Amino acid sequence: MIETELSGQPNLPWRADGERGPSEAPPPARTKARTVFGLAGELKNLVREDRMHRSEQARRLVTCPETYYNDQRAAAMARLGSLVPGMERVFLCNSGTEANEAALKLARLSTGRTRIVAAMRGFHGRTMGALSATWNKRYREPFEPLVPGFEHIPYNNVGALEVAIDGETAAVILEVVQGEGGVYVGEAGFLQAAEELCRERGALLIIDEVQTGFGRTGKMLAIEHFAIAPDLLCLAKSIAGGLPMGAVLIGPRVENLGPGMHATTFGGNPLVCAASLAAFEVMEGEKLVEQAAEKGTYLLERLRAIQSPLVREVRGLGLMAGVEIKRKVAPHLQAMAERGVVALPAGLTVIRLLPPLVIRREEIERVVEVVAEVLEA
Ligand SMILES: Cc1ncc(COP(=O)(O)O)c(C=O)c1O
Repeated sequence: MIETELSGQPNLPWRADGERGPSEAPPPARTKARTVFGLAGELKNLVREDRMHRSEQARRLVTCPETYYNDQRAAAMARLGSLVPGMERVFLCNSGTEANEAALKLARLSTGRTRIVAAMRGFHGRTMGALSATWNKRYREPFEPLVPGFEHIPYNNVGALEVAIDGETAAVILEVVQGEGGVYVGEAGFLQAAEELCRERGALLIIDEVQTGFGRTGKMLAIEHFAIAPDLLCLAKSIAGGLPMGAVLIGPRVENLGPGMHATTFGGNPLVCAASLAAFEVMEGEKLVEQAAEKGTYLLERLRAIQSPLVREVRGLGLMAGVEIKRKVAPHLQAMAERGVVALPAGLTVIRLLPPLVIRREEIERVVEVVAEVLEA
């Protein structure tokens, strides 16, 4: 088995170069992986329409500096900007960490302040600013000293927000559902208090929807579950149907943005913009958000019905599910992989299930069956 260079995740014994889902890698021969629970990046990148858009655009124009108008970019920015009323400015980049990095910089620029409040168990990416907002010591410590001015407070704790946000705070950065940290769903009271306190005290609210955005939780954006209006909203992963793309939606309270303050060469290139427009079409045409809501409710219901003394809690929202168990998950994940279901850990004790939004009912059944099997005491 070959180790991937830096991620530390061993390659799974399947290859993924096929039409629909991974297939067996020779050698070693293994049963076909039925369902891949990945990193939420694969929305539906195998859909025919999406492919057609991309290959057509690949023939027309792939790269185009921001200095020139481009039709695909303009359309993608308008489409992304329309996701949240009042967020008419959009910054396009290439990944989730870059989106958060940009949001942190824009918050500093806008407020003239440098303190950032983030949450314990939060994950925001691996570049220096986003990493400084990330909680897990394993990711942070090898790279210290990080960017100064970051403070982590307990998630879902309104009292801690009250104390932490002050006249020096540039921004509060939060996930709506903490993914990597263990699939913890935010409480409406906490998220709304974050928004109110930011407004009251002159700070900006950054919501990181890199994992929860674009249909994952059964709404186009997870903020729709909680009636909150962030000042900066970060997206990436599936927004271009599997091509690298990130975006920051920028609200009216964000000020002082001037030309050249922040930029990136490939951000908003016509190819990914065409892919993003195609992804929107597929989402709408196939009602993937509605599907995520319905299938997510079903998946969570079925997971909650598993009778195993090992299960501590099942948490989730839409097609984002976490099964917390009383032991380390690594051997259970291995056992699941051997049965053809690939899942990731979230922390040491949570099995994280982020299925493609196109998962079929019978695949959900199989997944639940396998989870139940490997959790038999
Ligand atoms: C909530 C959240 N923010 C940021 C990131 C970083 O995104 P990327 O890997 O595209 O840099 C991730 C990645 O998993 C994430 O889940």
